[in-house]
This record gives sequence, structure tokens and C-alpha cells, in this order.
Amino acid sequence: MPFKNLFDAVDLNQLRLKNRLIRSATWEGIADIDGSIGEDTYEIYRELAKGGVGAIITGFTSVATNDFYFGGMMRLSDNKLIPQYKKLVEIIHAEDCKAISQLALGAFYKKISSKNFIEISETSMRTQDVENIIKMFVAAANRAEICGFDGVQIHAAHFFFLSRFISPLVNHRKDKFGGSTENRAEILLEILRGIKNSAPKLHVTIKINSNDFTVGGIEEEESLKICEMLAAAGIDSIEVSGNGTSVGGIKAGVNEGYFGDFAAKLAKEVKIPVICVGGWRSRQEMEKFLNQTDVELISLSRPLVCEPDFPKKLFADKNCVSKCVSCNACYSTPAHRCRFGRNCG
Ligand SMILES: Cc1cc2nc3c(=O)[nH]c(=O)nc-3n(C[C@H](O)[C@H](O)[C@H](O)COP(=O)(O)O)c2cc1C
Repeated sequence: MPFKNLFDAVDLNQLRLKNRLIRSATWEGIADIDGSIGEDTYEIYRELAKGGVGAIITGFTSVATNDFYFGGMMRLSDNKLIPQYKKLVEIIHAEDCKAISQLALGAFYKKISSKNFIEISETSMRTQDVENIIKMFVAAANRAEICGFDGVQIHAAHFFFLSRFISPLVNHRKDKFGGSTENRAEILLEILRGIKNSAPKLHVTIKINSNDFTVGGIEEEESLKICEMLAAAGIDSIEVSGNGTSVGGIKAGVNEGYFGDFAAKLAKEVKIPVICVGGWRSRQEMEKFLNQTDVELISLSRPLVCEPDFPKKLFADKNCVSKCVSCNACYSTPAHRCRFGRNCG
């Protein structure tokens, strides 16, 4: 096997990346309530793209207009938003970087009067509501394609709606979308088939929990089974994560890559590229991992919040390590900027 260099170009289905580094989805929380974005968002993505990463997965982008789960969510829930997101893609493409929209639903909200909505649980929503959600994901992917995105990522991790829906802990449905692993995963397969049928040029990836880390939730064996079903149904790549996504206390060269074991197991089982996120901080550890396993790609979130040009630094200096101290303060700063990294010399 030839040595896998972090800066090799890689050919994925429908997608050629200039290197093996992907910006993992990172929610900025600065879009308007209707999903509109402006110069502050463009600036963040311009800086990231200039920083040398091969592809950027956007922060979670709701497929629904009535999804109030988090503040400042991007949305691809309405055609009127297309020009703004087209501009975002153009900014990313101008730096020879690929653009992937992370499509998500925080929760399902039902309108109960002209101004009031209530959240309906994954178990009690009607079958027709589930079918409508599938259509919303497909419609959002179609908008992403019109905007020029190279791919979409189905966000089925971190106990967002899809992650809860496929989990036996939350989904106690009695219809075709509940019960067995196959039934709970059917929502993912229908979204995938819908996107593949109507937007065949898009690279379709998924972010999924290797483990819910909750008693009664999805564990590794079931996650593997769902990933195999997705691979058989034509998903183009899989990004492995888990609940408790942004682990603290990461030290370069000591405890990097906390989902690495599962990603390695999965990459052995499936014939599609696996992307491993979570706690990567040094080129040496990333390349060691890539070369000891069948995993093809590494994704980064906090290191790029801290230093958007981290890929360029890794390219220039093999021994470079991230300045990110995994303090997670970026979760509570405006636009989720790093509180420390930019000023630490
Ligand atoms: C501020 C912040 C926002 C995040 N937003 C998202 C998101 O929109 N979608 C997602 O799947 N994960 C999100 N994550 C999780 C990251 O993508 C990533 O899985 C996690 O931080 C571990 O990788 P890291 O060690 O490279 O940061 C976010 C993480 C942070 C710190």
C-alpha cells in the first residue's frame, strides 16, 4: 500500500479533494431567523477556504422553516435563500475548496395556531409527518445543488432529529419507521434514495453516531449495521462521530482521534470512504492513523475554529500541532470564534 500523505489529492464519488482534510460541520449561530446569511458568515468561510482545507462542510443547515431547536441556524428551507447560499459556495470555490452543505433537522415543530408551534416527539408524530420530513431533506438537497454545492451531508449524529429517530432509546414507533434496526433506519435510506434520484450529481455523505453513549441507545454493533445498509444503498462516504462530540482534554500525540477505533472497524467493512472526526491535533498522528487503517479522510472542527489556516501550517511543517486546547469555549462565543487561538502567537 502506498503511503497516505495528508496532502494527497483524493477522488471520492462525484468529488475530487485537493487533500485528505475536511472541515467538519461547525455551527456559527449567526444566520437570521429565516436562515438568511450575510458578510459575517461569508468572511468566516472565506478565511476557512483560504486556510487550505480540501472541503468545507457547512454548519448544520435546517431543512425546515419551523425548526427552532438552535439559534442562528442556516437554512435551505426556502427558494428565496438560494442566491445567498450560492454566493457562499462561490466564495469557497474561489479558493479551490469543495463545499458540502450539512442538512439537518433539530426537531419537528407543528403549527398549532398562526403564531404558535409545539415540538412533537419522534414517537408521536404521524407517519405522514415523517414522510414530509423526508421530502424536506430532499427539497433542501435540490436547493443545495442549485446553489452549486458539491455535496450534502445528512446530519444523523449528536441527537439531532435523525439521530434520535434512529435510536431505540427515543423511537418507540409502531409503524414502518419504528421497531427493528431496519425500520428505524428507513428514514435515512428514503432520504438518501430521494436525494440520489433527484440530485444525482451531489456527493452524499452522512454524519452518524458510532455510539449514543446512553443506556438503551445505539451502540457500535447497531451503528455498524446501519452504516452497512447505507453503503449498500449508495451513500458516497460516512463521517464517524458520536454523542459527546467535542471531547475536552485532548493532547497532541497523546489521546488524539477518539472515534478512531470505530472508524477503522467501519472502514474495513465498507467499500466507501470513511471520514474520522474528533480530537485530531497533529499531522503525525493523523498520518499514522490513516496509514494503519483503511480510513481515507480526517475532519477537523475546533482546530479550524482556532486556526483556520491550520492545514497550510501542517503542509509547511510536518511537526506542527494545533493550538486548540479543546476548552470548548468556542461553543459560547459570538459566531463561535476561538477565545484564545487567534491571539496566542
Ligand atoms: C462550536 C461548535 C459547533 C459545532 N457545530 C456542529 C454542527 O453544526 N454539526 C455537527 O455535526 N457537528 C458540530 N460540531 C461538532 C464538530 O463537528 C466535531 O464533530 C467535534 O467538535 C469534534 O471534532 P474536533 O475535535 O475536531 O473539534 C460543532 C463543534 C463545535 C466546537
